Amino acid sequence: MSIILVLLFLVALIALAWNLSSHLPCPTWLGWLVERDNPFTKTNRASVIIEHLSLEPGMTVLDAGCGPGRLTIPLAKAIGVNGKVTALDLQQGMLQRVEEKARSEGLHNIQYVHAGIGEGKLNHSQYDRALLVTVLGEIPDRSRALKELFDALKPGGLLSVTEVIFDPHFQRQSTVLQLMQQQGFQKKTTFGNRFAYTMLFEKP
Ligand SMILES: C[S@@+](CC[C@H](N)C(=O)[O-])C[C@H]1O[C@@H](n2cnc3c(N)ncnc32)[C@H](O)[C@@H]1O
Repeated sequence: MSIILVLLFLVALIALAWNLSSHLPCPTWLGWLVERDNPFTKTNRASVIIEHLSLEPGMTVLDAGCGPGRLTIPLAKAIGVNGKVTALDLQQGMLQRVEEKARSEGLHNIQYVHAGIGEGKLNHSQYDRALLVTVLGEIPDRSRALKELFDALKPGGLLSVTEVIFDPHFQRQSTVLQLMQQQGFQKKTTFGNRFAYTMLFEKP
């Protein structure tokens, strides 16, 4: 019993230190933590996030901060061979993991961009949908990053933002709403609860 308490304390301490270390991204060697859906929360499952995106074959989708591709692979399947998913991540190791999975699934509709969101690597008005799943709190210059996402979406395009309490960089709904509205996004809907939620925004 006391060993479990010590372990729980250590986990809480690491999460707190990570949070206080500001924007340190989830390192590639910890990618296994986000390789699969979290069994404790339902609303941030890849299938649930994707089913709220109203995807259609042929769409263009940006998975910003894709990590090892938990969302990228099912997104690529959902939009079909005539669509395109851009997998963008700061860390080459994460993109390599996505590439390995895409190869083994025979998917050829994924483009890989090794960059930070906000570095200006994305063209304007090219995406129908963009996703930011447990990434926002890892971004140091959020207004620059969100401006790039706003510009990269087509008018009428949707941005899906997911946050989960277990993430050391968890962002509250009020913070997300404020940041998005500052960029000109309009909130469409929220699903989930205050521990794991997704907010959908539209570019007018
Ligand atoms: C917690 S993981 C989430 C991965 C994935 N979205 C998921 O839900 O499975 C966060 C990912 O965002 C990436 N990231 C953090 N800051 C970034 C930035 N400024 N630009 C691009 N990627 C970033 C990290 O490298 C990491 O792969």
